[in-house]
Amino acid sequence: MKGLILAGGTGSRLRPITHTGPKQLVPVANRPVIEYAIEDLKEAGVTEIGIVLGNLGREAIQEYLGDGSDYGLEITYIIQGNPLGLAHAAGCAEEFIDGENFVMYLGDNILEGGITELVESFQAGNHSAGIALQHVEDPQQFGVADVDTEGTVRALVEKPDDPPSDLALIGIYVFSPTIFDAIEALEPSWRGELEITDAIQSLLDDGHSIDSAVVEGWWKDTGKPEDVLDANRLVLEDTTGAVDGTVEDGTEITGNVDVAEGATLEAGAVIRGPVSIGEDVRITADTYLGPYTSIGDGSTIENAHIENTVVVGEATIRTNVKIVDSLIGEGATIDTAEDLLPEGKRLVIGENSQLKL
Ligand code: G1P
Repeated sequence: MKGLILAGGTGSRLRPITHTGPKQLVPVANRPVIEYAIEDLKEAGVTEIGIVLGNLGREAIQEYLGDGSDYGLEITYIIQGNPLGLAHAAGCAEEFIDGENFVMYLGDNILEGGITELVESFQAGNHSAGIALQHVEDPQQFGVADVDTEGTVRALVEKPDDPPSDLALIGIYVFSPTIFDAIEALEPSWRGELEITDAIQSLLDDGHSIDSAVVEGWWKDTGKPEDVLDANRLVLEDTTGAVDGTVEDGTEITGNVDVAEGATLEAGAVIRGPVSIGEDVRITADTYLGPYTSIGDGSTIENAHIENTVVVGEATIRTNVKIVDSLIGEGATIDTAEDLLPEGKRLVIGENSQLKL
């Protein structure tokens, strides 16, 4: 069984964060979101992973993950170029897959429970594909499956106006190489994409058996800022509180707080977990970090009050204005305007930034 992670896409809903890097490297609890997919594949027994890259942030992903040896895996990169749909991305990987079965995983998804159940269920039967499903409130926004009581799929439809069920395809699939024939015969959908949902439906039309597994536990697609915050909150729930950095006497810590190597928490700082503090971060006295906050590597936080926030990395935050529910990009500086005249906020804001002042 091989693995295929789709890491193309433009990340448009995560701008401005994705102006400087791909969405798959946005950190959740201080680890790039794509690492969670890699971990799930590894746990399911996959050792060879292909990563399909788009145009945006291609080098950054390759640089970060390298040849996979840090993860005990073999990683191969496949260039998709323009995002023409999930089925197009899969089709680009035919040579890498080389006649084997494979798991396809959208690289900006995070699952609480992993994918082992889906993979084992596929392997136990004689199926041409397996799909991971979850009950959702808004099935119109997804690919939707009509499934019998045994979990056998009867029909699939992409973004239906009149959904046959509330079971959404969550973007994790197992395929036999037959899928490539189905992809070859596809026509673009109304949105101009080659839909993997249509490819699986055409397997059904040809009499193939499609397996399904309803995924237990939470699932998050980290496509939007609020989803990144949600995923961060959900992952931080399981923080164990590993302290590798320096916590000075007089720091007040409650709950689980991870402190990475080289980080310093100065006396007088108040940290209420779950919180994740990255490498070489400096947190000064009079700073309050509240639950569900992740501070990215190399950041400096002085006299600030921050809650339910993800700081991507190397930011400087030096203000007593309370920062909540925020996603703060790499290299950002947030300073106080307290002693400045004329009074007022001073902003240097990138394209597509969102501020609530
Ligand atoms: C894609 C798939 C859809 C699936 C969804 C999961 O949709 O086409 O079937 O339910 O991913 O996130 P998209 O994100 O391209 O709208």
